[in-house]
Amino acid sequence: MSNPAHTGPRHVAIIMDGNGRWATQRGRPRLFGHHAGARRVREIVETCPDIGVEYLTIFAFSTENWKRTQVEVAGLMSLFRRYITKEARALSAFGVRVRFIGDRVRLDPKLVSLMDELELLTSENTKVHLTIALNYGGRDEVARATKRLAEDVAAGRLDPDDVDEETLPKYLDTYVLPDPDLVIRTSGEARISNFLLWQSAYAEYEFIDTLWPDFARAEFTALCANYGGRERRFGGVKA
Ligand code: IPE
Ligand code: IPE
Ligand code: MG
Repeated sequence: MSNPAHTGPRHVAIIMDGNGRWATQRGRPRLFGHHAGARRVREIVETCPDIGVEYLTIFAFSTENWKRTQVEVAGLMSLFRRYITKEARALSAFGVRVRFIGDRVRLDPKLVSLMDELELLTSENTKVHLTIALNYGGRDEVARATKRLAEDVAAGRLDPDDVDEETLPKYLDTYVLPDPDLVIRTSGEARISNFLLWQSAYAEYEFIDTLWPDFARAEFTALCANYGGRERRFGGVKA
């Protein structure tokens, strides 16, 4: 997959937003939109190998989403359980390696064991690396990472003089992933809502009006092609 002529993004991260509005537009409860949104994921995952995307990271539930009504939160948690159970076989058969990022401590143990099982089931796959951010917040992730880093310092395993910008990422949930090249947010909101704060320092962004349940292969492909035409400078000047 590491084709030198490939100029598209290697890692795409998506803030899957707009499920609630999609449902409201149809006079249906918000959970109807979340179910429709979950059904979109497979097509996007399966598009990745065709366009050279090796890593896809999707924002499913944020550390702030607990503020929603109990009905919506419970509905989402049950949707995640059902999604994992239902999709495990197809994802695995397609060659998807699934990982979860976020704080598992607050999640229902039944959900956490399904997450663990899916990670294990797909651990040998390499075709697409799908990372699902569930109870994920960028600040929460940095705080948890800092805590573990501090523990290593306190235990004498890490010398503070050796701490630099290569050190912290090793403690982040994403330690095995490359940084995202392109971050897409659907639904017209132009904010990052606490997603991959550290990792997206030099990502390109696309904010599009499409609501997540309407996001499909053609638009995803077009956004990735558009990325290929951009000049990333990383603080330098044009080569
Ligand atoms: C994104 O859609 C899914 C989650 C945050 C779980 P929303 O539920 O935020 O949809 P809108 O923004 O209200 O339309
Ligand atoms: C971000 O969307 C979180 C997910 C897509 C899971 P939100 O809809 O929760 O973000 P805000 O509240 O509009 O910033
Ligand atoms: Mg939203």
